[in-house]
Amino acid sequence: MTWWRGAAIYQVYLRSFADGNGDGIGDIAGLESRLGYLRELGVDALWINPWYVSPMADGGYDVADYRDIDPAFGTLADAERLIEAAHRFGLRIIVDIVPNHTSALHPWFQEALRDGPGSPARERFHFRDETNNWQSRFGGPAWSQVDDGQWYLHLFDATQPDLNWDHPDVRAEFPSILRFWLDRGVDGFRIDVAARLVKQAGLPDKRGRFEGVPTFTDADGEPDKDRPEVHEIYRDWRTVLGEYGPDRVFVGEIWVRDPERFARYLRPDELHTAFNFEFLKCAWEAGPLRAVIDQTIATHAGVGAPPTWVLANHDVTRHVTRYGRANSMFLKREHGVPTDLAAGTRRARAAALLTMALPGGVYVYQGDELGLPEVFDLPDELREDPVFARTGGLDLGRDGCRVPLPWGGDAPPFEFGKGGAWLPQPADWRDLTAARQLGDPDSMLSLYRLALRLRRSDPALGDGELRWRDSEPGVLAFERDPGFACVVNLTDREIDVPAGEPLIASAPLEGTQRTRLPADAAVWLRTA
Ligand code: NOJ
Ligand code: CA
Repeated sequence: MTWWRGAAIYQVYLRSFADGNGDGIGDIAGLESRLGYLRELGVDALWINPWYVSPMADGGYDVADYRDIDPAFGTLADAERLIEAAHRFGLRIIVDIVPNHTSALHPWFQEALRDGPGSPARERFHFRDETNNWQSRFGGPAWSQVDDGQWYLHLFDATQPDLNWDHPDVRAEFPSILRFWLDRGVDGFRIDVAARLVKQAGLPDKRGRFEGVPTFTDADGEPDKDRPEVHEIYRDWRTVLGEYGPDRVFVGEIWVRDPERFARYLRPDELHTAFNFEFLKCAWEAGPLRAVIDQTIATHAGVGAPPTWVLANHDVTRHVTRYGRANSMFLKREHGVPTDLAAGTRRARAAALLTMALPGGVYVYQGDELGLPEVFDLPDELREDPVFARTGGLDLGRDGCRVPLPWGGDAPPFEFGKGGAWLPQPADWRDLTAARQLGDPDSMLSLYRLALRLRRSDPALGDGELRWRDSEPGVLAFERDPGFACVVNLTDREIDVPAGEPLIASAPLEGTQRTRLPADAAVWLRTA
């Protein structure tokens, strides 16, 4: 079996993972020093957010040099050493590739600025004398003007000019970048904004539905999203990857809602997997969750790709917080919403067991395993996400899910590094440090470690199929072969645990015989 079909992949947001040199910013040395932690956690691979040379206007998603490492993170030699070390620890490495846009400091854009209107260098981007009505995904217009009067397109920040994917230089550059990293041993790529590379010819106006704060629900079939020609790019890339054997893999960041159109990216000659954002967005309710699970499985089965299950990432409100809200459906980042973190944590524990039991691959975003909540009360002047400024603070941005990890100790920076941390951690994270949780068998970390270990050793888990059991409303119950069942109680009262030997539960089973499953809890059972 190919490893990625059922892999557990841990997302490393490098600047907030671990700081090796004490400057307050996470780096490659810090990650290397924690590889043992990740191996013991029980994941199969790491996805590392962009680590390339970047002015960091968008946390590194603004790349100035795709073939070198940003000095804040280390050197190219450090990256090479990290890849080797990870492999020795049995961890594969997936790096992030950012093909939709560069940084404004990328040599191509600098050349375009210098050479002026009408120059060949400008054709690698989308320069125009007049704009259309497109809005930036980060708020505000998607066009900025340069000194000579021309405008350039940027679907994200003004410092992230969109590349023109109709240009042969652009088409040729990325396969070459893929090879550069494949030659250094990476096991795959996470493709940023994968559905938006190709724009409709002529860049026509959108029908317009801008709400001030971009949401993740904008319609499919827009002139800047999911154009049919984008698939040619991935067929081309797949050929490149294929030259390196069957074990290298693509995962696409594809916010396309229509299941049939989503599945097109996962055809056998395109991407291997894609993030399942419909599941991430879904409320903590049995009916909608079951519908998303069924839809996901059906969609993927049609193209023979394994589903993935994602609860969180560096772009969305942490799910401990989301699930603590009356309406836990995720459409956009919101603040000031009443939140019950104890309930959110209970549900996050149950959700961890649910996702790890579903067929396919599973992603863990750093800090999920510690049960970290979203942090809202950051000083505005320390917020780095351009979303904050571009929406005039209407959207606080994504810094609150990117706060550096608490590793140990009783006070910030909680052994994140020797110095401080680039964003302040809440003082009450002293109860959530990895060190504290390791010593507590009932902690979120202990739950993740045991569940990931069971998932890895149990032949019923990972890739495969699922069979629903009849269950009362509000309960999700399914079986996997051989001899495994998962029951999730989303009602507000205890239910009977069905027959079987409990392997792990997200909350203590109740009753003298331990036969009752509490509300908002999940259990795995050995049934044969
Ligand atoms: C998606 C990434 O996950 C996000 O962090 C980034 O800001 C945008 N793409 C733009 O690259
Ligand atoms: Ca550092």
